[in-house]
Amino acid sequence: MRILFVCLGNICRSPLAQGILERKVQEQGLDWEVDSAGTGHWHVGENPDPRSINIAAQYDLDISSQVGRQFSPTDFDQFDLILTMDNQNYRDVKRMAQKEGHEKKVKLILDFLFPGEGVGVPDPYWDDNGFQKVYDLLDRATDELIKKTSLT
Ligand code: 4NP
Repeated sequence: MRILFVCLGNICRSPLAQGILERKVQEQGLDWEVDSAGTGHWHVGENPDPRSINIAAQYDLDISSQVGRQFSPTDFDQFDLILTMDNQNYRDVKRMAQKEGHEKKVKLILDFLFPGEGVGVPDPYWDDNGFQKVYDLLDRATDELIKKTSLT
């Protein structure tokens, strides 16, 4: 299973999702590849936002060496599941799907917690207090992701 998390900047939400899932994959001995990307180009080559690094560190998780990159249409071939953080990312990524089967690889990550409700992970970029909520949602959603995906 190859999983790509996508947000807007690839510095706040998707690096956290990547780090949280990578640790679970390792702990549970799953043969999964995990990565993240942003639909935007502004933060390519940067490490995650210090606020994301800090909230992860509070859970003994080190995401500081991740490097931002932009989503590319070639990612549709490289990954089995493309999990977007919010509805805007979802629309932007889906629009880039060109081949048969690519569009259905794209899902909202919070569909694993709130199926069919169209709920997005709130963008914490302008909200210093938003990072705890993002961590909690992603922690719960990745538990469900593992439960549901390792059964199929
Ligand atoms: P992210 O957060 O999509 O979770 O990485 C953002 C990061 C940067 C910007 C917006 C959201 N920005 O406007 O630069």
